[in-house]
Amino acid sequence: MKVISCFNFKGGVGKSSLLINLGLTLAYSKKKVLFVDLCENSDTNRRLGYEKSDFDTSVYGWLTGEYPVNKALYEYEHQSNLLFIPSDFRMNDLVSKIQKKKDWYLLLKEQLNVFKGHIDFVLIDNHPGRGDKRHYLSLAASDLVLIPCDDDPSTIDETLDSIQAVESFRENGFLIDYFVVPYRLKSKIELDYVMKELKDYKIAPPIRHTSAFKNALKKKQTIFQYNSVYIEKLREDISLLIKKVIV
Ligand SMILES: Nc1ncnc2c1ncn2[C@@H]1O[C@H](COP(=O)(O)OP(=O)(O)OP(=O)(O)O)[C@@H](O)[C@H]1O
Ligand SMILES: [Mg+2]
Repeated sequence: MKVISCFNFKGGVGKSSLLINLGLTLAYSKKKVLFVDLCENSDTNRRLGYEKSDFDTSVYGWLTGEYPVNKALYEYEHQSNLLFIPSDFRMNDLVSKIQKKKDWYLLLKEQLNVFKGHIDFVLIDNHPGRGDKRHYLSLAASDLVLIPCDDDPSTIDETLDSIQAVESFRENGFLIDYFVVPYRLKSKIELDYVMKELKDYKIAPPIRHTSAFKNALKKKQTIFQYNSVYIEKLREDISLLIKKVIV
């Protein structure tokens, strides 16, 4: 089982989109995938075609011990090898609820142990910002962290801070690998800029910008449902990323 998080303190850089497209692509190639959604607005489930109101159990209830994990686990109706545990509106209280426990940041890592042998990839979506320490839970649990980054100078700054956050876990003995993923870039000039600014770090193959992705979202379709040559190219980018840094 490999645990992968999408992480960047910066909001709106593509964490949730990258994560869901990775998960769908891995599930499409018959891997068993579990999404864990730490962000109350990340809409992981909406991107699979559901509404928030479709679920009355969540990561919050699971990690705070309200109910066992099987109560919070849902199966994607189009691909039974894709499971997810949704977030709920209480997610931003999660850390304050659990942080009195010793080593609270290991809670997700420990709780995920039940999936060993059943799940190939756990994919964790993160909340943006540093306002609370929810990202500690996902960094402590992760084998691999993907940090999507666009060419906005403020994103580059926040990406460098996000890398520092991962590095501090590594310095504390966590065996986390990480890659910056140049994301949603519209031209080679933009890509070259990101590559130059982050040349000291490991950089994954880029994922292109395509407005077809937004069109698919508007129609509540995934990259495996929406028909477009641009989406095919996006799927190729995701597959290359998987080949180069994930499997
Ligand atoms: N490959 C792509 N091409 C074009 N637009 C994209 C692509 N991927 C994502 N987007 C768009 O970028 C925006 C931000 O994406 P997303 O919600 O995944 O970011 P995020 O980092 O998860 O945001 P938040 O920090 O709010 O959780 C969305 O409007 C999404 O539709
Ligand atoms: Mg998100």
